[in-house]
Amino acid sequence: MEKNTRLILALDVLDSDEAIRISEAVTGHVDAIKVGYPLVLASGLQIIGKLAEYASIIADFKVADIPNTNRLICEQVFDAGADAVIVQGFTGHDSLEICVDLARERNKDIFVVTEMSHPGALDLMQDAGEKIARMAADQKASGVVAPATRPERVKEIRKIIGNELAIISPGVGAQGGSAADTIMAGTDWVIVGRKIYQSDDPAKAAKDIVSEIKDVL
Ligand code: C5P
Repeated sequence: MEKNTRLILALDVLDSDEAIRISEAVTGHVDAIKVGYPLVLASGLQIIGKLAEYASIIADFKVADIPNTNRLICEQVFDAGADAVIVQGFTGHDSLEICVDLARERNKDIFVVTEMSHPGALDLMQDAGEKIARMAADQKASGVVAPATRPERVKEIRKIIGNELAIISPGVGAQGGSAADTIMAGTDWVIVGRKIYQSDDPAKAAKDIVSEIKDVL
């Protein structure tokens, strides 16, 4: 994934025509489009290949199973045309390792969730977040997912993983996080969903976030 605008669109719409229209509109303003269960369950896995015409595709399936099942899932998703898959880290080293090995063979990326961006992530996930970040670094995953809603956690996670791994951060806009604060905390890409795809003018919404990011670089 090339680091140009440092913005990733989280495309959680359900209709494939709408997904294509928004992707076309934001081309050039985003470095990648994150596609997850809402769009794929509503439109089918082939939507990944269609959207790959507009940007790199990160498949956010938060894969969290035993190693063999994780590999089967990642194979299907890479075969569908995704450039990267998001996997959960809490399942442990072997479940992660099989995904990272497969991605390496295929020249693709794995991003590992450390902790999530919503309030409930504080109940259980945050305690494990630093250990998961360390595991992702040891296994040389491409990067981790860390919350834009808690820039201080992005800073902590950056200290743990160093500069070899990327950080991608959801939670900007609808969940209250700020693109500028998250970039200043050390994230490489901010992930924005509703603020862009629910806007009357998604291209302008994306462009405004990119200017906010550029202003602090
Ligand atoms: O609409 P909004 O900008 O809040 O979208 C955030 C996106 O990032 C959603 O697709 C959500 O599932 C995802 N996500 C998140 N927190 C994480 C990992 C993924 O909000 N830790």
